Amino acid sequence: MSGRPISRRRAMGLTAVGAAGVAGGTAGWLWSAGSPEGGFRPAGSGASLRDPEVVSSRGGRLRVDLTAAAGAALAGRDTAALGYNGTSPGPTLRVRPGDELSVRLTNRLDQPTNLHTHGLRVSPQANGDNPFLRIEPGTSLDYLFRIPADHPAGTFWYHPHHHGMVADQIFGGLAGTLLVDRGPDLPVDRDRVLMVTDTTMNAGGSVAAPGRMDRMMGRQGELVLVNGQHQPSISAAPGVAQRWRIINGCASRMLALRLAGHELDLVALDGTFLPAPASRERVVLAPGNRADMVVRPTAAGRFELMSEGVDQGGMGGMGGGGVRSEPVLLATLLVDGSAAPEAPLPAELPAQVPDTTAVAARRRIAFTMGMGMAGMSFGIDGRAFDPQRDDQSVRFGTTEEWTVTNSTPMAHPFHLHVWPFVVLATSDGAPLSGTPQDVVLVPPRGWVRLRIPFTAHNGRSVFHCHILDHEDAGMMATVHVRR
Ligand code: C2O
Ligand code: CU
Ligand code: CU
Repeated sequence: MSGRPISRRRAMGLTAVGAAGVAGGTAGWLWSAGSPEGGFRPAGSGASLRDPEVVSSRGGRLRVDLTAAAGAALAGRDTAALGYNGTSPGPTLRVRPGDELSVRLTNRLDQPTNLHTHGLRVSPQANGDNPFLRIEPGTSLDYLFRIPADHPAGTFWYHPHHHGMVADQIFGGLAGTLLVDRGPDLPVDRDRVLMVTDTTMNAGGSVAAPGRMDRMMGRQGELVLVNGQHQPSISAAPGVAQRWRIINGCASRMLALRLAGHELDLVALDGTFLPAPASRERVVLAPGNRADMVVRPTAAGRFELMSEGVDQGGMGGMGGGGVRSEPVLLATLLVDGSAAPEAPLPAELPAQVPDTTAVAARRRIAFTMGMGMAGMSFGIDGRAFDPQRDDQSVRFGTTEEWTVTNSTPMAHPFHLHVWPFVVLATSDGAPLSGTPQDVVLVPPRGWVRLRIPFTAHNGRSVFHCHILDHEDAGMMATVHVRR
């Protein structure tokens, strides 16, 4: 499996989607079902979307046990995929600003793991959101995350972060949703999580090992799932709005979301409300990004939620072909019943935009790739990740301007833990949210300019490419925020 050239598989996917697209209706099923070569067959395609199990805090506290182990159900089948408490995605953890979240993580994998609360503005120290911790197989660790009282309400997620194994473990199935709860009350009838993940399963139900090219370009799964289900359907009634919290939990795949027959009313990005709802034809999410949107069905019918194709550059002269996320059908919206009068969205949302005008320091950070003796090397500023080294030292309480450049021919999503940033500009003129976010795509041979308030927490953490094969290969660095 691992030796199979990816280019052939990708070419087949393209053809299949193209053909199905012309036939109309079911674009994507051939591609995602994989395999004229006789691979894994998903079951339960088209079944109703299920919400992952939700565990909520009470009285300011949520205590939860998570066990990471192989043997989760995926795409309607019993598989050897990885899960938390037997499911992929794991349970949705629901907390409120000011809460304490305690997680006892038990490792029943055959390799080390740990836990990261992606996007949460919590301390990176001790048993908090500390990516340097290591939980050996057969052992447990107690995490304690104190959610600040002024934490934004929104959509976050959790996943393993043990350097060198992150892509394997997320692609294997380890991810879950983390919601911070508090108004405003949107005029919606349903509040749904849509966690999108991808993986490739062998016929026997084990997760396919990546090939060399998968690791270089970032592995993309043949099977694209929503809440662990294959192409589920979502029912709705005309005029009755729903909030969809879409999380790109894929190891490397870009999502370019489009819902047939509908505009998407974007209300939040990366767990932070926009100042006002923004109507979009298409919402692009890099791995790690989240979008909260209000879907307002107008008429009865079937409407496909697609991810369109996204070009991500290529390997340039370094061997390999173009990098591309292929189009895929994610889910189908089924609108049925009698029309209800539509409630308008609020004109304003409680965006929390920090003042970033006073800049204490400016830095340049570069995503770099090189050709070494052992093949392609990935790094930041020409160096591979070293957890012992302080790459950037920042004074706590200050705001900095970082220009993140990309000297490589492929796009890399830049992600910083703990301290979300406001994007000032990008070399490709991509639309700017104006609100804090935690992942931004740096275009091939391009740059992004960010303002980062290093407030609320001090301590040591990391920034990296959220194509997790690149992160595992060394495209990660440390930042030490000192008092
Ligand atoms: Cu979602 Cu450092 O990761
Ligand atoms: Cu993160
Ligand atoms: Cu990358």
